[in-house]
Amino acid sequence: MLRWPGQTRAAVEPILWQNKLLMNLSTNNTNPLFNDNKLKLGTFCSNTIANMTIVPEQWRPTWANCLEAACLADQAGLEAIVPIARWKGYLDDKPDHPSNEVLDVFTWAAGLSQATRYSSILATSHAPTMHPLIVAKQCATIDAISGGRAALNIVGGWNRREFDMFGIDLLEHDERYVYLEEWLKLLRQLWSCPQEFDHSSKYFRMKKAISRPKPIQPDGIPIMNAAQSLAGIRFSAKNSQIGLLGLRGDSPEEWAPQVGNYKKMAREEFGRDIQIWTNASVVLRDTTQEAEDFLRYYSEEFVDVECLDSIMETISAENNVPKGSPQLAFMRKRMATGAGYPLVGDARRIARELEGMSRAGINGVIMTWLDYIDGVERFAREILPLLEQAGLRKPFAKTA
Ligand SMILES: Cc1cc2nc3c(=O)[nH]c(=O)nc-3n(C[C@H](O)[C@H](O)[C@H](O)COP(=O)(O)O)c2cc1C
Repeated sequence: MLRWPGQTRAAVEPILWQNKLLMNLSTNNTNPLFNDNKLKLGTFCSNTIANMTIVPEQWRPTWANCLEAACLADQAGLEAIVPIARWKGYLDDKPDHPSNEVLDVFTWAAGLSQATRYSSILATSHAPTMHPLIVAKQCATIDAISGGRAALNIVGGWNRREFDMFGIDLLEHDERYVYLEEWLKLLRQLWSCPQEFDHSSKYFRMKKAISRPKPIQPDGIPIMNAAQSLAGIRFSAKNSQIGLLGLRGDSPEEWAPQVGNYKKMAREEFGRDIQIWTNASVVLRDTTQEAEDFLRYYSEEFVDVECLDSIMETISAENNVPKGSPQLAFMRKRMATGAGYPLVGDARRIARELEGMSRAGINGVIMTWLDYIDGVERFAREILPLLEQAGLRKPFAKTA
């Protein structure tokens, strides 16, 4: 729906029209996050490195690489392209460490919005470092560029090094979500309120605030949130359209209660239906043996131990995960293989695992690869047809 006279109809209308046609939706919804596919898919983290490894094949997050990976995902009909928001990497006094190399999420999302036609393009806000006024305007602009495909992952931060660079305090864990709630309320007010408004509270003072243009999407820009703690999950169940959950355990039987309880909380406490997505790292090879060997090569033999140690130290200190706990050990293992559940094997095995996630109630999976370009292309060629056969996705008609 075009609602702002400054937008060029010629540029935006074909995209809106094309998206509605592709999604077979009769509503005004232009964002594929709400299409009919039972299992939605996306890429995660291509704007930086996801894998804690020192192999020469490590991903290089150049603009050219990000653009190529995103166009492949878009042409394959993946629903989401999600960056990670990180101002600084995980090691002090190592300016050359690749975890410091991160393309800015909002300008990255704007550029990809212009280059793609179908996927939802997310930015990720590191809320305490960004005033809602800035984010409201940036997101509305990305929504205009993309023709209503913008979405926003909101995070409260956990890596104190980033906050030290800004000279601001990292709030105590649960208070981060109190802050996020107010931050998000203001963001949504800026997106929806036609009038200027005042606001005064512990965290914000705003006088005659207004943000225009408004987003194209009639219900505002969808919100994703990746909380794992009880306080965080309550926030997400109350406020987000998509909860990103790091799955504990290795089987659909272990995952189903985690997903079910999350959705139940949203429904019973807040009267809302939300989608639950998870993150996974993909190693697809001709045989499962080859895939497992490659995983071992980059995540064990050549693991970036120093970086991994530092991340776990920070998570333990800032997110209340006790040292020596099974939870921390589990998180370390997952971090080493690329931030998320390892989808490792030949195409049939990976498709079966994705079917298991869907059976457990997962609505979407965002994925990382060591090489996104080869990874997305191969995933689309070998795994998407299997998911279509399994009834989890409809075939996608490529855009021009
Ligand atoms: C899939 C996923 C994506 C995340 N993306 C970011 C990010 O971009 N930036 C960031 O600072 N934290 C990110 N986080 C960390 C979360 O915001 C949060 O700090 C973490 O999941 C711990 O949850 P808790 O705050 O409920 O303890 C992400 C976590 C997950 C699982």
